Order: sequence, then C-alpha cells, then structure tokens
Amino acid sequence: MTTKVVPGLLIAAQDAEGVAREASARMARLIRDAIGTRGVANIALSGGETPRAAYTKLAKEEGIFWNKVRVFWVDERAVPAGDDRSNYHHAKESLIDPAKIPADHVHRMPADEKDLDAAAREYEQILTKHVPKGPRGAPQLDLVILGIGEDGHTASLFPGLPTVDITDKFVAAVPAHDGLEPRLTLTVPVIEETRNAIVLAVGKKKQDPLERVWQTSGDLHVTPARIVRGVRGSLAWIIDKAAGGLS
Ligand code: 6PG
Repeated sequence: MTTKVVPGLLIAAQDAEGVAREASARMARLIRDAIGTRGVANIALSGGETPRAAYTKLAKEEGIFWNKVRVFWVDERAVPAGDDRSNYHHAKESLIDPAKIPADHVHRMPADEKDLDAAAREYEQILTKHVPKGPRGAPQLDLVILGIGEDGHTASLFPGLPTVDITDKFVAAVPAHDGLEPRLTLTVPVIEETRNAIVLAVGKKKQDPLERVWQTSGDLHVTPARIVRGVRGSLAWIIDKAAGGLS
C-alpha cells in the first residue's frame, strides 16, 4: 500500500456542476487578488472538457476588471483557431467573448504554424514580454488552470515523451503521437513558477491518475501530472467525488 498525500488544498464537490462552481469562485478570487496587488492578472488556461463549465461561470463572476486580465494558454493543439479541437476556440466561446476581455490581452498559442519549434520560440517571447519572471527565472503567472488526463498527463506533457524533462525552455513543441495532433505546451519551469495553480478533475476515470500523482513517490515519465507537486505557489485540487474515489 503506497502512501498518498494530497499536496495543497483538496476541494471535493458532489459533481461536475459543483466543480465548476468551486473552480469559478476560486479563480475569481485569485484574479481579483492579483489585480488588487499588482494591477494585472496573468492567467494560463488549459483546454479539454473539464474547465469549460468553470470558464462559463467565471465570465459571470462579479468584481473582476477584465481589462486588467491577460490570458495565455497552458497548451494548444496544432489546429486552426476556430476548430472544435482548439483550446483557444472553447475558451473564447466560454470566457473571453462573454467577459469581453480585450483582444490585445488574449495571447493564443500559434500551434497551427508550420514550424512548431519557431512557434514555441515566438510564444516564449510573448510570455516573457508580458509576464515578469519569478524567483526561479521563469515567467511567473498569477494563475494556471490544469486538467489531468486518464493517462496521467497534464498540459501537453505526455507519458513516455521527453517534454516533461525540458528545463531550458518555457514553451515546447510536442510531436504528434498516439493519434494526437502536434501541440505547443508550457514547460515544467513555468508551471512550477506560478503563484497559484488549480487542477480540475471530474469523473471516475480520473481517480487512478490522481492517485498516481498523490502517491509520495512515482515516475514523472509515467505520470507527468506529478509535476504539479513542484508548484511553488498555492495548489488546489477541485474534483468531484467520483474522481476522488468517494462515491
Ligand atoms: C488539452 C488539455 C489537457 C487536459 C487533459 C484533461 O489540450 O487536452 O490542456 O491537458 O487538461 O487532457 O482533459 P479533459 O478535461 O477533457 O478530461
């Protein structure tokens, strides 16, 4: 029996709706705090299904000066901006347009560019231009929203790929693999540097990867989502009872 310890704050909601509600409230508070303290909130969004309902609720939260929020992405697939697989597309529909975030504050990852390595360097420039560096030298975001895949990935840091080992870049290109399109992703140094991270997980299928992250020891190349244990800021897990193995 391996010891499991949840690093950070665990919020177990009854269901997906509860996760969206709790996540929206926490995101709103952290964004308001960042704006109140530093005059801006630099946030990075993950894609996938889980965060969409939270983004929709976040757009309706009170007291957020959306013109002081800068939006970046944690990762993006090599698809056009309007494609249904695009993380940008879903965030635009659920959050950016409803909250009327100014276009010059929205920094889409150009993962559909031909030269993905050049696109990674381009995005790195954008990130370092707008986001001050933290104590470890990486751009220090105020809030990073993460999910977790059934295979134990987070962002586009996938099991068996070397991306999780990259420490000399802030954005990396991820080659097509296992039927997945190529992607761009933030690297571990940026995710670790964030002031606040929230990991969202809904459904029974996330119980196993969550437990592999919460085990006190484990292999990053098998469960890259274990990198969230290195987050230097606040870390909150907002999950439903099914993902927590509590139902
Ligand atoms: C992506 C996401 C990815 C996501 C997980 C979980 O581009 O797919 O950024 O890291 O967070 O795959 O996705 P679900 O929320 O759809 O389960």
